[in-house]
Amino acid sequence: MRTRVTELLGIEHPIVQGGMQWVGIAEMAAAVSNAGGLGIITGLTQPTPEDLAKEIERCRGMTDKPFAVNLTILPTIKPIPYEDYARTIVDSGIKIVETAGRNPEPFLPLFKGAGIKVIHKCTSIRHSLKAENIGCDMVSVDGFECAGHPGEDDVTNLILLPLAARRLKIPFLASGGFGDGKGLAAALAMGADGINMGTRFMVTKEAPIHEKVKQKMVDASELDTSLIYRTLSNTARVFRNSIAEQVINIESEPGQTKFEDIQQLVQGAKGRELFDTGDLDQGIWSAGMIVGLIDDIPTCQELISRIVSEAEEIINERLTKTVSG
Ligand SMILES: Cc1cc2nc3c(=O)[nH]c(=O)nc-3n(C[C@H](O)[C@H](O)[C@H](O)COP(=O)(O)O)c2cc1C
Repeated sequence: MRTRVTELLGIEHPIVQGGMQWVGIAEMAAAVSNAGGLGIITGLTQPTPEDLAKEIERCRGMTDKPFAVNLTILPTIKPIPYEDYARTIVDSGIKIVETAGRNPEPFLPLFKGAGIKVIHKCTSIRHSLKAENIGCDMVSVDGFECAGHPGEDDVTNLILLPLAARRLKIPFLASGGFGDGKGLAAALAMGADGINMGTRFMVTKEAPIHEKVKQKMVDASELDTSLIYRTLSNTARVFRNSIAEQVINIESEPGQTKFEDIQQLVQGAKGRELFDTGDLDQGIWSAGMIVGLIDDIPTCQELISRIVSEAEEIINERLTKTVSG
């Protein structure tokens, strides 16, 4: 498959692994890139910019294919030296960056000056147009189905993607709710140039998380995610476990929820421990509605080959026959 995304990023298949806190380490990114997609190291998973430089080097030791780094600019409990992370990305010779969270404009002169292609992930058409205007090379359009932060508009990809195709000139990735060849074929049909996946890549052999977490997601249905932080206007889609339910209960109490009321339950450190220990009620973790369509734990190579061949078959056989009678 050749699309504007494969051309611009220099990859074989139009499939990108979105940044994932605690999951997007060198092994994950290299496995996706070696399988012909674009793997992404999550910048802030590394405790310091120096650690990020080392992680990028580790990834280079595992793949000679292109890979990217994600820089997520979000409100955090501890202040983050974003400038130093951005400078490390440039100094490490990275050529593709995925930005997310806030407007990436302050970082664009640095990135563009170094010849870096910037993919900005956003959850609305207005933010996608803004990203195009300020000079991003591509956007990832994250629909309401997605894991992590879907924004506050609650618009699904069936509407967002055709709108993006109408309004944007730059290439865009469909993100949120993708995990199989039907999804890839549909994304292309709606005008996207490829897909971005998070949750589906968590449930692969190479994802650095406990088997129990992967198996829980295999066993889950499309109803097993929850929206938390709605009352704080910072909505996040996470796996529905007892901690997510406690957070929702606190948020549904009368009066405005304060972050301090839930902080103990949602600490990032607890989510990270959960990925190591497999104790499924230790914290929260991001997961999208696509869990309902995940029923195995393949390698990244098996997953990407399967998605591409299923999409090609749909396009060549089913859709072609539909129009040729
Ligand atoms: C465990 C996990 C952690 C994530 N962490 C981040 C992050 O740190 N930064 C970011 O931009 N997106 C993050 N995401 C969102 C993904 O990059 C991607 O946009 C999203 O997963 C797409 O939806 P899907 O899960 O339905 O494929 C995360 C997703 C998951 C599943």
